Amino acid sequence: MNQILKPFVQVEITGNLKEDIAAIFHYHQDEETLKHVLKVAEEAIRISNQFGVEPEEAEQAALLHDVSNIIPVNRMVDIAKALSVKVEEEELKYPRIIHQKLSRAMAEQVFDISNPNILNAIECHTTLKSHASQLDKVLFIADKLSWESPEHNFQHEIRQKIENNELNQAILIYLNHIWEQRNNLKLVHSWTIQAREDMLSLVEKGFVLLNETITDTKDLMDMLDSLLREPAPFWNGFYSDRSKDIPFFVNHPDENLKSYYENGFIPRGNMLEIGCGPGRNAIYSAQKGFKVDAVDLSEEAIRWAKERAEQSKVSVNFECKSAFDLIPKPEYYDFVYDAGCLHHIWPHRRIEYLRLIYSTLKTGGYFGLTCFAPGYTEIGGALELSDYEIYRERSMKGGQAYSKEKLFKLLEDNFDNVEFRGMKACGEDSGAFGVPFMWASLWRKK
Ligand SMILES: [Fe+2]
Ligand SMILES: [Fe+2]
Repeated sequence: MNQILKPFVQVEITGNLKEDIAAIFHYHQDEETLKHVLKVAEEAIRISNQFGVEPEEAEQAALLHDVSNIIPVNRMVDIAKALSVKVEEEELKYPRIIHQKLSRAMAEQVFDISNPNILNAIECHTTLKSHASQLDKVLFIADKLSWESPEHNFQHEIRQKIENNELNQAILIYLNHIWEQRNNLKLVHSWTIQAREDMLSLVEKGFVLLNETITDTKDLMDMLDSLLREPAPFWNGFYSDRSKDIPFFVNHPDENLKSYYENGFIPRGNMLEIGCGPGRNAIYSAQKGFKVDAVDLSEEAIRWAKERAEQSKVSVNFECKSAFDLIPKPEYYDFVYDAGCLHHIWPHRRIEYLRLIYSTLKTGGYFGLTCFAPGYTEIGGALELSDYEIYRERSMKGGQAYSKEKLFKLLEDNFDNVEFRGMKACGEDSGAFGVPFMWASLWRKK
């Protein structure tokens, strides 16, 4: 033991830590600190197992953590220097903070403790530090829980977090409390600031870990969504410049849709158009006597569609939303139309998409679909990608072309095919829209 400590250690150190600690505090008539360290020891032992800490280590660290309280605060700096304890410049502003380092030095020199876990925990019991061990955290929080003062409201919250096994969050409650008080405190130790940053990132990581738990099919769908691009921003950008030379910006209905109505395939009634864009098919259908609900997830497209409907003096219920956010209307529609939406739908969402179309149609109701056909990339068509490929590439690459076989595979269990053909190319003055790289198909719900 360094000679400078001798005057403070006038009792015999027997090796029974609990008795020795009691003797040393009795000698200094510091019953208050003795009571406190016993309480901290009790608390630290109580929560040790819960957080994977050896109860014995927790007890020893707790019994020793405030042993330097027997040294008057005005002697702490010089004694620390004599013991080669590194005192930081900032600690001189509030020398009492040095007691944690002095307690460590005394644990080593007076009580012969060499276990680095215990020594480290004692050394940061007031401030904590970055990369704190479980024992550091247990001692730190047991100390805060054992303060007896009615003003410490955070103790109740800390206890609740401990009960929930959330040690990092319990610590963060205290560290945030310090952070909020920082302007009124003599010192917020740099170790405390670093420890708080650590805890913030650990807690945030904890939230991520929890949020990214797949517990059901919905979570699985959300995870797959997260791998791919959010669709709405792309489509808003796409529709924002109306002067662009995009074939389907013309205000004509699909040629196949016209033909369905002209051939009398589809009786008038309730219609839903999914992915209606600027509304050309929905408006035309309303003019032909349908009561039309039409959705698109692009605000720009819906704004344009509403303007067109107003100009044409027809009533269409346009809504800016995803088909997946539609309020279910079971067996309500006579006709559901999809002009180029399916081929932009991610394969995992297609399951729900087709289920939605099926459930929303009346039995015997019709489903009209135009979508990219394979083999026309040179004239504006899309690539034929396997569903797996989309996830491997994490991209739809501007749309997925469907083979005839694939469309039948997806639809034939629930729908009879009424017509299946290539879309007919239409000139601008034909009054209809048609491009040669799409399928046009009509299905009837079984
Ligand atoms: Fe302390
Ligand atoms: Fe303490």
